[in-house]
Amino acid sequence: MTETYRPRRSVLYVPASNDKALAKISSLACDAVIIDLEDAVAPADKVSAREKLAGIFANRPGRRCEMVVRINARSSEWGADDFLAALRCEPDAILLPKVDTPRDVLEAGDVLDDNFAPDEMKLWAMIETPKALLNIGPIAELGRDPASRLVCFVAGTNDLVKETGILATPDRRYLTPWLMQMVLAARAGGLDLLDGVFNDFRDLDAFARECTEAAAMGFDGKSLIHPAQIEAANRAFAPSAEAVAEARSVKDAFALAENAGKGVIALNGKMVERLHLAQAEKLLAKAAAIGA
Ligand code: COA
Ligand code: MG
Repeated sequence: MTETYRPRRSVLYVPASNDKALAKISSLACDAVIIDLEDAVAPADKVSAREKLAGIFANRPGRRCEMVVRINARSSEWGADDFLAALRCEPDAILLPKVDTPRDVLEAGDVLDDNFAPDEMKLWAMIETPKALLNIGPIAELGRDPASRLVCFVAGTNDLVKETGILATPDRRYLTPWLMQMVLAARAGGLDLLDGVFNDFRDLDAFARECTEAAAMGFDGKSLIHPAQIEAANRAFAPSAEAVAEARSVKDAFALAENAGKGVIALNGKMVERLHLAQAEKLLAKAAAIGA
């Protein structure tokens, strides 16, 4: 989670080549959209999709919904031009695909600096290659330096399955160790972390289950492919009513005069420490920001 909580529960990919989908953006309740120039756009449409970016941002809805652009890899034939076109639109962030090393992020940051991009323009990184997983600690560490602009990781689960040859099972048993590694790295670097997409977009029950599990694993939100997935993601990644009530009782207990200065207290038969108070305050701030 970043310093001032910015909800990223539901982050919808919208292909830059799909006018009908683009027209829907302002009516959607997602926390962020990723305008995609990469895998959702066929090679023949790459250039025309890029040319649409300026028009898409000219009609951007208010700042409530973050707008991010996913470019093609900077090493690809489209990447450099995508990056320049994206930064001219002043998106909230540019999402870098196929990041392998810290250098991939640092070089992108240098281009933003060289083009006088405002400090508010951030970088997000896809974690979707074997190399990214091997280098994830040093990549995440960049999050500790605001000058790097890195604020968020997005798990690219389809690419990880493709690149490693693991079997994609409904319970994600072979992916889970790597997803947990991402959680650990993101927390070490102070980054937000979004889970990968759920391909079977007609199965909303299975989708909701995967969201609940991802929230329990420590993810901040989920990347989405279809508007029908927004509601369940918003619900799963918001603090539950029970969690909010529990946090309030911890806060209230420490506020009692008799507990002033105590490091540890008993509450309803359970040990509660000041670290739980800090956790409760964080959760309440998150709930307030979401309006939960
Ligand atoms: N963003 C915004 N609107 C979307 C959308 C999206 N990602 N996906 C679908 N819609 C819209 C459709 O345009 C359609 O609009 P309409 O009611 O005006 O016709 C409506 O939602 C219902 O769509 P539906 O018919 O259920 O789906 P579809 O068959 O048109 O599209 C996909 C299915 C998967 C092709 C489409 O959802 C998609 O392209 N998703 C994003 C894929 C992507 O970006 N992948 C890269 C990252 S993994
Ligand atoms: Mg990918």
